[in-house]
Parts: sequence; structure tokens; C-alpha cells
Amino acid sequence: MSESKRLAGEKAIDYVEDGMIVGVGTGSTVAYFIDALARIKHRIDGAVSSSEQSTQRLRAHGIEVLDLNATGPLPLYVDGADECDPQRHLIKGGGAALTREKIIAEASATFVCIVDPAKQVPVLGRFPLPVEVIPMARSLVAREILAATGGQPVWREQVTTDNGNWVLDVHGLSITDPVALEATLNQIPGVVSVGLFARRKADVVIVGTPTPTVLD
Ligand code: A5P
Repeated sequence: MSESKRLAGEKAIDYVEDGMIVGVGTGSTVAYFIDALARIKHRIDGAVSSSEQSTQRLRAHGIEVLDLNATGPLPLYVDGADECDPQRHLIKGGGAALTREKIIAEASATFVCIVDPAKQVPVLGRFPLPVEVIPMARSLVAREILAATGGQPVWREQVTTDNGNWVLDVHGLSITDPVALEATLNQIPGVVSVGLFARRKADVVIVGTPTPTVLD
């Protein structure tokens, strides 16, 4: 499994061009990308990070971490996913970094998603859908998600996001219309962000097979 992640992470270096500020996601696959990025760090102008975890790894390699408010739009964002469908819609947030990931994806011209083959599914939803919520709205949001979707929200206890919020994981969904479900869930007061990357999906998916497969 980690060999697949390494292959995907290293292949994403093909998308890095000289002088870029690179958006960097979160997770074990991205860790391989960061390590590969460190080998060409003299060619880039820095990174924008989606989590404290990735910031620490970037800085440990001597890569400058910049504020998205200062950089403006980014040319490239590289991140992993928990599930990916054939249309390049994603479920993300297994590492609770979904909100910052979504912000950087939105700010980026090209979103390259790096996955191991086990992340590919015909229909999203086997992986419980993460939803970041304002703490006081946790039970309200859970009730409304149940009513709207029939999915079973489970509070990811003991996890607080980098933004000080909580996460519900919604089990039992079969997401045949990801764009519509993302819009529906985004309308519930107290939802900070939904781990469905459908309206802004990946532009490219790299699957870490021995000769990495590129879907675009
Ligand atoms: C972080 O919140 C997630 O969106 C990750 O991108 C996702 O969980 C992928 O993680 P791995 O690369 O560790 O499988």
C-alpha cells in the first residue's frame, strides 16, 4: 500500500514547474509528495499548506510555507483522497483537514489528486463522508443530515480540527449525485465544510500503480 502511495506522490512532481508556489494537501500519500518536493525545493518559490501536519513536514525539509492571503491564486494543488469515483469526484477529510484542503483546491488552477488503487470506487460513499461542524451545531447538523440523506452521522469524538471544530462521519451513503449532495449539505447551518469535492473536483488523478495511471 505505501509503495503505491509513494509511486503516486512521486509522479505528481511532473506537474511542478519552476518558480511555482505549490498548494500541498495532507495525509500519508502527500507525505511522499512532500519528500519528493524537497529534492527540487530550489526550483520552487514555496508552498501553501492545508494542515499543521503538512506545515511541519514542509518546514522540516526547509520549504518555506506561505499564507494563502499573501500568495493569491495558486497554479497547482496536490492532495490525496479517501475515495475517488470515475468522474474524479472525491471524498476527503479522513485526516480531518478537509476545510483547508477545500480552500486551497478552490484557489488552485490545477488540482492533482494522488491515490493508491484501493481508493478508486464506482460510486462514492463506502468511506464515511466527513463533515466539519461548529461544535454547538453538532447534534442539529446530525439530525438534519439524517433527515436529508438517510445516512448515519457518527461524531468523531476526541478529534478537533485545526480550525477548532468537530467532525461528523456520515455512514451508509451511496452518492450517485455528488454535486447535488454537496450543495444540500452545505446549506445546513453549522456546517463548515463537507468532505465531498464535487463542484471543485480533481482535474487530474494519479493512481499509484507500478507505471502510474493518470486520469484527466
Ligand atoms: C485529509 O483530511 C484527507 O483528505 C486526506 O487527503 C486523505 O485522508 C488521504 O489520506 P492518505 O493519503 O493518508 O490515504
